Amino acid sequence: MASSGQPRIQWLGRWGFVLAATGSAVGLGNIWKFPYITGEYGGGAFVLVYLACILAVGVPVMMTEIAFGRRGRGSPIDAIRRVVSESGRFSGWSLIGWMAMLCGFMVLSFYVVVAGWSFSYLWKMLSGGLAGSSVDDMAAIFAANNANPWVLGGWSTLVTLLTMLIVGKGVQEGIEKSVSWMMPGLVLMLMLLIVFGVFSGGFGDAVRFLFSFNAGSLSSAGMLAALGHAFFTLSLASGAILTYGSYLPKGASIGRTTVSVALADTVVALMAGLAIFPVIFANGMNPGEGPGLIFMSLPLAFQAMPLGTLFGILFFLMLSMAALTSSISMVEATVSWLCDNKGITRPVAAWSTGIVLWLISTLAMLSFNLGADWTLAGRHFFDWLDYLTSRWMMPLGGLGMVLLAGFVLKSETFRDELGLAPLPYTLWLTMVRYVSPLGILVIFVDALGLYQVSFAQHWPWLLAILVAMMAAGETLSPRLRKALKAA
Ligand code: PHE
Repeated sequence: MASSGQPRIQWLGRWGFVLAATGSAVGLGNIWKFPYITGEYGGGAFVLVYLACILAVGVPVMMTEIAFGRRGRGSPIDAIRRVVSESGRFSGWSLIGWMAMLCGFMVLSFYVVVAGWSFSYLWKMLSGGLAGSSVDDMAAIFAANNANPWVLGGWSTLVTLLTMLIVGKGVQEGIEKSVSWMMPGLVLMLMLLIVFGVFSGGFGDAVRFLFSFNAGSLSSAGMLAALGHAFFTLSLASGAILTYGSYLPKGASIGRTTVSVALADTVVALMAGLAIFPVIFANGMNPGEGPGLIFMSLPLAFQAMPLGTLFGILFFLMLSMAALTSSISMVEATVSWLCDNKGITRPVAAWSTGIVLWLISTLAMLSFNLGADWTLAGRHFFDWLDYLTSRWMMPLGGLGMVLLAGFVLKSETFRDELGLAPLPYTLWLTMVRYVSPLGILVIFVDALGLYQVSFAQHWPWLLAILVAMMAAGETLSPRLRKALKAA
């Protein structure tokens, strides 16, 4: 194993990890997925649950994952196995690492198709293929873009090639540099779109849609979607953040880096919502349009603004870059595992992963044309990949990791690795032991149809359950009480 002999390579600059992790987190999840699922699940209430999930589950899970990576210095499987054996616990826990690695791979299999959409719209912008199109044309253009498997497959193949090219080169070159100019550029473009939106007439409706809370409008499916999206958008439980954490130097603060990554990610998602929904409302479009939402709406905005073509080109260029800085993080776990365990070089690992990926992503791509009828329980292959990963595998993997860190491992392990002051450590511990697991479980109970939980109605019960869990947990293993005393 390479990582037991030589020291593991590390990020170059002081900001290396923050840049790379932000690059992984900010992507199509923020700009493509967040607006369209917010639209599908009815707006404000969904946004609120999503924000709560980021705070109560996303941030603690992310800290835990980075700590696992840095402590275990390896791919998810190796890192978890090492950390677990350091505490003398059952090595079967590394199953969580296997699931994470598989999950990252499955996410990438459909992600390259969406990234392909972004590249194809960049091309349409460059070649003038969208000029003069009306609201109605937009849906037809999106449909036509998907209808030809050769064209759509060409774009997703391009994304696969680019991803593997970058990953084959290694983590240090490329990633850090590209993120450092692309991220501010993307934020600038979104600001421009928001300013445009303010004058377009749909802004008030958009703000109301995103931020007015109507408890009745959220279904249990919506709650599970919000939780799943919190994992997806922060790249959790899919190997990405854990593996990037394995390159993090010892001295860096895990708490502070996590907060900055989560904050940047959330700001970009909310900005994307504020940029897109004014266009939707001003043009009388349906917010629940589905996965094509941004591709059908944003070109209309670019068409109507001065220098719109130029801005449109820049926007889709940066969206494509943002997709690439995310896609490379999804295979980093697999590639680093192959390098460490199979004695092959990074380029060989990257290209062999790429071939398997290409085959699966081609099947996902066919869901939009030839395979549109190949459905199981109403979902085609693309939808299954998305559904299984963000609704089930990520929350389950996250649950496994927080329980492992909170109850199973020796308490010194994470106290050392996180290096937090007593008070924030106590807070983190409370979150991973009780709050995050309860949140994940409630949403699962709901989604499995076992019981319909309404936060507005049941919050006293939930609070009571939380206190009971804490009392039981602290009687059996009084870690939190000790931490509280220290604080
Ligand atoms: N967080 C990325 C996005 O929002 C997607 C992603 C998921 C990246 C899982 C890595 C792992 O686009």
